[in-house]
Amino acid sequence: MEKIGRTKVVELLKSEAFDTTVCVKGWVRTKRGNKNVNFIALNDGSCLANIQIVVDVANFDEELLKKITTGASVSVVGTLVASQGQQKCEVLAKEVELLGEADPNTYPLQKKGHTLEFLREIAHLRPRTNTFGAVFRMRHHMAMAIHDFFHKKGFFYFHTPIITASDCEGAGQMFQVTTMNLYDLKKDENGSINYDNDFFGKQASLTVSGQLEGELAAMSLGSIYTFGPTFRAENSNTPRHLAEFWMVEPEVAFAEIEENMQLAEDFIKHCINWALTHCEEDLKFLSDMYDKELIERLNFVVNNNFKRLTYTEGVAILEEAIKNGKKFEFPVFWGCDLASEHERFLVEEQFKSPVILTDYPKEIKSFYMKQNEDGKTVRAMDVLFPKIGEIIGGSQREEDYNKLETRAAEMGVPSKDIWWYMDTRRFGTAPHSGFGLGFERLLLFVTGMSNIRDVIPFPRTPKNADF
Ligand code: 4AD
Ligand code: MG
Repeated sequence: MEKIGRTKVVELLKSEAFDTTVCVKGWVRTKRGNKNVNFIALNDGSCLANIQIVVDVANFDEELLKKITTGASVSVVGTLVASQGQQKCEVLAKEVELLGEADPNTYPLQKKGHTLEFLREIAHLRPRTNTFGAVFRMRHHMAMAIHDFFHKKGFFYFHTPIITASDCEGAGQMFQVTTMNLYDLKKDENGSINYDNDFFGKQASLTVSGQLEGELAAMSLGSIYTFGPTFRAENSNTPRHLAEFWMVEPEVAFAEIEENMQLAEDFIKHCINWALTHCEEDLKFLSDMYDKELIERLNFVVNNNFKRLTYTEGVAILEEAIKNGKKFEFPVFWGCDLASEHERFLVEEQFKSPVILTDYPKEIKSFYMKQNEDGKTVRAMDVLFPKIGEIIGGSQREEDYNKLETRAAEMGVPSKDIWWYMDTRRFGTAPHSGFGLGFERLLLFVTGMSNIRDVIPFPRTPKNADF
């Protein structure tokens, strides 16, 4: 085979270098034609579109062409020519090499229109479909958008640990990390497990959030963000929960809640704008396939201010709606943790816009949030989105040593376990704020997909850790 460098399909489709010889490699999506000419739609993952390969049957071995079936991998050298078809160019094959066969009797991606549920069972192959190609390219672009936003604002990307001995959210939803032999667990006279001989010499877990360490970084580098995997052993089988998900957590010294809200709003708008400008082809495909209002919804969010109100005001609106006949599955009262149906009512029916809800009852929020003067609420902020519900959770942090220590004790977080965190309040404490954005929740919003299992390559959920 003639030795020339491979050009990606995304480049070829933009190329004007007609009548030159090119090399393209990819996987066959379809092959059709007649006894004289075959048309192969070739995709290499670089973009949604395929390039058409035109094969003059007379010039090729019949046995070779037979093996070029859906899913097979081929390398083609040929002439790039202008085309009358959908695409502006195609390749007239001079040489075709079969790199890898895909037996039509066993390759699972044969027929068009597989369900998303079926594709989850073949998560190792689903990136070869248009849908998952589009979703995972957008996932990449959103990660780039995040780094671009913070980098340009002078934030430093700070790597917080994945294995930790502290429960940031205090919610007891941690996966333990151990090298102990579970078949031969040693317990002491009280029936407790002795971790002295475990790998870390103490009980360790996968992190639920990088925030605590992120705060340490903010109290030295000023403005930082973490962006990494986080883990929650919550047994929630919903379209919005994963046991392993990625979180983006900025933390800013000297910032109070108002600045934090503005940062959150600007940040999400930047990401959505990025999708609109960098992912046009994939967005259009996903919109046509799954969600006709997707692009309109993205534009709406970018062009309108988020509605800001307090939890107390939100609850009053919900109570009023119930009085007027609105039915919810879960009860609403001051002090309740809002369910997704309540959040979505505020966003989708009441305000028809993203909402930032602030000043929640302290009982339903974490120990580290700054306490308000009323003694009942804390300076929390949740950003609520159409179709998603909560996309961001954050707060101003309690910077007062004594208040923090008391609250941590009340909530069952021994401050001796987080002495290093407490130290930031002992030495040069200052107001500071931050938040966490669920990366997959953002992806749900920008791709228009409706199940969180379809925006992460290999979802981990209760009873499922395949691939
Ligand atoms: O509201 P959460 O629990 O906040 C924190 O963890 C804070 N420490 C963040 C901070 O202030 N630095 O989680 C933040 C976001 C949620 O708003 C949601 O988008 C996402 O993380 N999230 C999940 N996403 C997928 N699956 C889950 N099980 C999630 N739990 C939270
Ligand atoms: Mg939350």
